[in-house]
Amino acid sequence: MRSHLLNDTTAEQYRRSVTEGVERVAAKIAATDRPFTGVSVDALAPRIDAIDLDEPLHDTTAVLDELEEVYLRDAVYFHHPRYLAHLNCPVVIPAVLGEAVLSAVNSSLDTWDQSAGGTLIERKLIDWTTARIGLGPAADGVFTSGGTQSNLQALLLAREEAKTENLAELRIFASEVSHFSVKKSAKLLGLGPDAVVSVPVDNNKRMQTVALAHELERCKEAGLTPMAVVATAGTTDFGSIDPLPEIAELCMRYGTWMHVDAAYGCGLLASVKYRDRIDGIERADSVTVDYHKSFFQPVSSSAVLVRDAATLRHATYHAEYLNPRRMVQERIPNQVDKSLQTTRRFDALKLWMTLRTMGADGIGQLFDEVCDLTVEGWHLLAADPRFDVVVQPSLSTLVFRYIPAAVTDPAEIDRANLYARKALFASGDAVVAGTKVGARHYLKFTLLNPETTTDDIAAVLDLIAGHAEQYLGESLDHAS
Ligand SMILES: Cc1ncc(COP(=O)(O)O)c(C=O)c1O
Repeated sequence: MRSHLLNDTTAEQYRRSVTEGVERVAAKIAATDRPFTGVSVDALAPRIDAIDLDEPLHDTTAVLDELEEVYLRDAVYFHHPRYLAHLNCPVVIPAVLGEAVLSAVNSSLDTWDQSAGGTLIERKLIDWTTARIGLGPAADGVFTSGGTQSNLQALLLAREEAKTENLAELRIFASEVSHFSVKKSAKLLGLGPDAVVSVPVDNNKRMQTVALAHELERCKEAGLTPMAVVATAGTTDFGSIDPLPEIAELCMRYGTWMHVDAAYGCGLLASVKYRDRIDGIERADSVTVDYHKSFFQPVSSSAVLVRDAATLRHATYHAEYLNPRRMVQERIPNQVDKSLQTTRRFDALKLWMTLRTMGADGIGQLFDEVCDLTVEGWHLLAADPRFDVVVQPSLSTLVFRYIPAAVTDPAEIDRANLYARKALFASGDAVVAGTKVGARHYLKFTLLNPETTTDDIAAVLDLIAGHAEQYLGESLDHAS
């Protein structure tokens, strides 16, 4: 069994095994003609159930053959131009190379004595990101597992910086279309059930600052404490960007922590054309960025950044076995002092390899391309009487709904759209997402693939219309 341990004696086997795996995946990716096979849970589950984990195959080729059956064949492939669903980007090759390196070396970024250069690379990328944001000389941050954890950590710091210890008094203000991780964080942080105040949005799905000012004032008058305002720079559904400068003004006036959730919009930090859309982000106390959404990085790759490095102390614990307090005096850089995690992947390496190979402009150009494509998609939808499209894009999502001329019942239109999404998924021809706007069901494209064309968008719209019409035809037959 020792032959499976990666060490000086098995380097050749490591090379062979990994090359075999890479060749399988490369062949798979080259041959994928649809984003999904449309496999059902019922069809796939028995294949996985049938595998006896106590009966190993011992042989890499046999294991890869089996993996083909239970995973590779039916995986959802984000690199395909007709994968248009969630905030999953196709990944850039330098980052995938980074992934291969980081898992083989297996550094853990909690302490210097488990990562050495890795710690410094991560720190340099944090500095690079805070400089791009414009957070100032005292800024710092740390890589996290994703936007959910970044938001949680930012709100933990905000809670600790708030001027009361009475958790029931604390309020967080976030727009009605902010990410659900804000509410989840409030719960995890022990705040009361009314802690998150939902601020209405305007027609473009941006937080209404007049409403925010009103809520902040109400909070003050009620003797409560405004703990944080969460501005979203790229809402999950609409890509809308809250008015950051106005929100920054209000945060200053009410002495409130400003967190910018730029999990999605952070791609604009590298943008060549559209960086100004997130002007005002530099006034934040903390920022969430998800490189695994708009920097074309593999999952996971995210960071939380703060204006004042000292605030990260709220996440610090010293353990004798790992990061004793004396190491701070000895100036030993232990990233665990800043993180909610202990053992932590060297995800920063992927971004490092990307920037060293492509440069920031390379990433920014890719993101600009998908933003431009989305505008073209919006024009297609706006000109097509079969569809209602919700807002003009600020980033790369389109929310729309099929509206048949002959049907007026909104509930029936809901059902037709829900059916179309499901049927499309089952066909594997394309994958799209869905959401609700008000009480109504809509469909969503998240366009993160520069290889997607307007022809792809037009073709997928035709497929959606076809499935919806089929549903409506069948439901009319049932009714008659
Ligand atoms: C605006 C926003 N914030 C936070 C998150 C959560 O990020 P993650 O899925 O990386 O935890 C998302 C995910 O879609 C998001 O869109």
